[in-house]
Amino acid sequence: MNPFVYNQIAEGSRFYDRKEETQEIIRWLENGTNLVLYGPRHYGKTSLVYKVINYFEEKDYICIYFNFMNVYSLENFISLYSKALARKQQPLQRFAKFLQNGVKSIRPVLSIDPNTGAEELSIDFDNSHISVLTLDDMLDLTEKLAGKDNRVFVFFDEFQEAAKIPNINFEGMLRSKIQFQDRERIRYLFFGSKTHLMQQAFMNNRRPFYQSARPVVLGLPPENETVEYLLKVFSKEDISISKECAEYIMQKAGNIPYYVQMLGSEIWQYMMPEQKTVTKEIINASVKIAVSHNSDTYEEIIYNVSEKAKDMLLLMANDKKTSLPDEERKEIELELRDKGITEFTDMQYYIADPFFRLYIKEIINGNGLI
Ligand SMILES: Nc1ncnc2c1ncn2[C@@H]1O[C@H](COP(=O)(O)OP(=O)(O)OP(=O)(O)O)[C@@H](O)[C@H]1O
Ligand SMILES: [Mg+2]
Repeated sequence: MNPFVYNQIAEGSRFYDRKEETQEIIRWLENGTNLVLYGPRHYGKTSLVYKVINYFEEKDYICIYFNFMNVYSLENFISLYSKALARKQQPLQRFAKFLQNGVKSIRPVLSIDPNTGAEELSIDFDNSHISVLTLDDMLDLTEKLAGKDNRVFVFFDEFQEAAKIPNINFEGMLRSKIQFQDRERIRYLFFGSKTHLMQQAFMNNRRPFYQSARPVVLGLPPENETVEYLLKVFSKEDISISKECAEYIMQKAGNIPYYVQMLGSEIWQYMMPEQKTVTKEIINASVKIAVSHNSDTYEEIIYNVSEKAKDMLLLMANDKKTSLPDEERKEIELELRDKGITEFTDMQYYIADPFFRLYIKEIINGNGLI
């Protein structure tokens, strides 16, 4: 089986580095400080938070992981959040009762999933009366779950999406709840993949969460950790690889965990079944494959940006700067950022996907990669 995986949370032996960040997050949360974790796309935020959750669950603390990505209405939040709360609660029957007692306006039902045979909790919306009060009750459940002496840690992923739930001031309601909750027992970590929206939520003084959580910034892993990891994974597969080649992979993937996995996966696939030594040629061929796998998406991105933004992308891919006046430049920078095409770290914008960068570079330089 391919030892590199890039569309799943990295867990167990697949997870490397992040020791300091893991410790930092655990320490602050244990001390009763709520946190907001910032980090560009695909740097490994969710995987890191899963590691923290594992740590706390081993200590028998209650951890709630909730992802706002698929939340588009209040009803939908209530349904998904109930499931998230129920995840580790056994027996489910008892949790359904707890939910019913805490949130009188909804009707939880238990059923058996025909595919897995597992018991499932859902909300019967035909017999529920959803309102802002329902949300109020739902948000009180953390405290009820904690009871007198348990601790509850809440991890809100893609939290920037919460502000988009229509017809309610979700952020405002949650913030005022948290203000009155007992820090001894309940802590929160907020994070999300749209850094600029997360920053707006926590750094804008007109927003409810303004300065309400301590920031933690997730950067790239140290280069040598990525190289060590690559050496280890390949050698475990009985594939030999030089340090130089491992460094080359790390560079091609911009040292971003997601792309390191993606390229590793392509290389492994390319070499199967009989090649036993990673070479630069193999890496280059695998990069080419990775880029062409995504070329439809890349074409679409190019198609959907303004002409000026296209020019800017070209310059960026070739490490050049625009000569446009500041105001115009800023406008294009924001367009690219808001579309998720670029990220901002170390005081500058860069193209978030290293393979997209290559795609642009190759097309324009006419190297015929694609
Ligand atoms: N510490 C790590 N060790 C190994 N692989 C990792 C690590 N962190 C992330 N990855 C790889 O990167 C991929 C993306 O990680 P993850 O989903 O945790 O990032 P994210 O920052 O939450 O991404 P997004 O911005 O899309 O939400 C994972 O599938 C995994 O393959
Ligand atoms: Mg994530």
